Amino acid sequence: MCPPAHFRVTYSINPWMDPSKPVDLPLALAQWEDLRDRYLSLGHTVEVLEPRPDLPDMVYAANGATVVGGRVLGARFAHAERAPEASAHREWFRAHGFTDVREPEHVNEGEGDFAVTDSWLLAGRGFRSSPLSHPEAQEFFGRPVIGLDLVDPRYYHLDTALAVLGGDQVMYYPGAFSPGSRAVLARLFPDALVAGEEDALALGLNAVSDGHHVLLPQAAVGLFGPLRERGYEPVGLDLSELLKGGGSVKCCTLEIRPD
Ligand code: ARG
Repeated sequence: MCPPAHFRVTYSINPWMDPSKPVDLPLALAQWEDLRDRYLSLGHTVEVLEPRPDLPDMVYAANGATVVGGRVLGARFAHAERAPEASAHREWFRAHGFTDVREPEHVNEGEGDFAVTDSWLLAGRGFRSSPLSHPEAQEFFGRPVIGLDLVDPRYYHLDTALAVLGGDQVMYYPGAFSPGSRAVLARLFPDALVAGEEDALALGLNAVSDGHHVLLPQAAVGLFGPLRERGYEPVGLDLSELLKGGGSVKCCTLEIRPD
């Protein structure tokens, strides 16, 4: 995670970002600390990446890399405003004992567009990550990639429309995907939790699950019951200030998967 010490909305690279809307920085920091403390109280380890004053979107750490089995596929950002974040992440991993750290050839925005299930690497395309990043990730991780086409600019990253709950279980919002990708999701995940528009608009799919607890925006109230029915424990959080940059729980969290 990377604290929002320099978070602000001064440019707009997704429809959520409105530079004319003020951001309450102390509140953003408090909300971020609440998320971090929640991970800690659930027994997870949180590593912190040093924020840089010139990189206001750095709080969205999920975009900086994808880590599976201790191998690190770095990011390459679509927009110049965020480009330097990629090397900050790679350097962090190298400094922390990760030896297999790859600088990618093609644009990929890390876990923004890559989601890891037991069987697959789900990969978004359409707004940010290049379709060419999909075979690159498949080759690097040796995991089958399922390419998914995003069609609604409000759901510009896969992680704004789909979350992995555990194993091969996911929840997603069909409206974010092309008809063909919707059919692929229905075929791979017939028991998925299918979210409605209101919960998707609260960025309720921008969630992190440890296989038992699911941390998600508390405004996505429609997801709580269905999650409980499936045996998960929803943990609601208020990240209203970070929503102004177009992100929530998952965007602020890069998962380090040692295996
Ligand atoms: N303002 C950031 C951007 O548009 C938000 C990134 C959100 N991160 C995510 N994993 N969806 O790039």
